[in-house]
Amino acid sequence: MIRFDDVSFSYGDRGGAVRNVSFTLQKARITAIIGANGAGKSTVSKLMRGLIRPLSGRVLLEERDMAEMKTSQLAARIGFLFQNPDRQICRSTVREELLFSLQFTVPDKARHEACCREVLDALRLNPDDDPMMLSRGERQRVAMASAMVHKPELLILDEPTTGLDYRECTAIMEYVRSLNQSGTTVAMVCHDMEIVQDYADQVLVMNAGKLIASGEAEQVFRDRETLDAASLLPPQIIDLSLRLGAGYEHIRHVDEMAAAIAERRGRA
Ligand SMILES: Nc1ncnc2c1ncn2[C@@H]1O[C@H](COP(=O)(O)OP(=O)(O)OP(=O)(O)O)[C@@H](O)[C@H]1O
Ligand SMILES: [Mg+2]
Repeated sequence: MIRFDDVSFSYGDRGGAVRNVSFTLQKARITAIIGANGAGKSTVSKLMRGLIRPLSGRVLLEERDMAEMKTSQLAARIGFLFQNPDRQICRSTVREELLFSLQFTVPDKARHEACCREVLDALRLNPDDDPMMLSRGERQRVAMASAMVHKPELLILDEPTTGLDYRECTAIMEYVRSLNQSGTTVAMVCHDMEIVQDYADQVLVMNAGKLIASGEAEQVFRDRETLDAASLLPPQIIDLSLRLGAGYEHIRHVDEMAAAIAERRGRA
């Protein structure tokens, strides 16, 4: 879907925010980008959306260099959720917010009402609410709605769940999963390894502007060396299974762990 070919980017002359990054984002999957603060995750997300252009290397969308594509083409095909939702909310009602997004992405105005209705229902939003009067979780849902009201093929989410309570977090992530199941490719930056474990298929690990590992989430979370290098901890259940060692190493869920412990107790 998206291919980074030796991409570097810098915000100034203080050195690179992203250095020599190459990877392929797999179509119709959920890929998480993980790493410590300042590792370059948001920069990679912005490069992926074409909001900033590489200083060297190429970002390709379906094998076409994004540098040769129009901003409007990119906006129609790629939805983007900023790290801070308040940076993207700019209208005084939820409906206007969605129509603002549609004006740049869906030229056929006759389709706008249906597009809005679908996403408002799915994310349980009231079209007449003022976004700035809503809670943090509700504002995040508004920003999410406007990022994908036009049904982009690729959705890029920069920390979609940070600052949300458990219920809002689950609501957002179940929605992301439903979009993915209907074919949307998802790339998300996430600091919560439990969410990455529950929802992501693939993981890209960044450290100090470099991509230091990529692969299936399960495999990356069991690679202690890589996680240490990126200053990350694995999800707690994987951490516990690795510490318990023999007979427990492949356990991924609390239920499996409880069953394995109960079985051992029964044998003792
Ligand atoms: N607008 C900017 N101007 C100058 N430097 C920036 C800018 N945005 C990011 N940087 C620098 O680029 C590097 C990578 O930043 P980036 O925001 O991509 O990291 P991140 O992994 O998303 O971090 P976080 O987890 O804190 O969101 C950091 O050193 C950061 O200080
Ligand atoms: Mg960031």
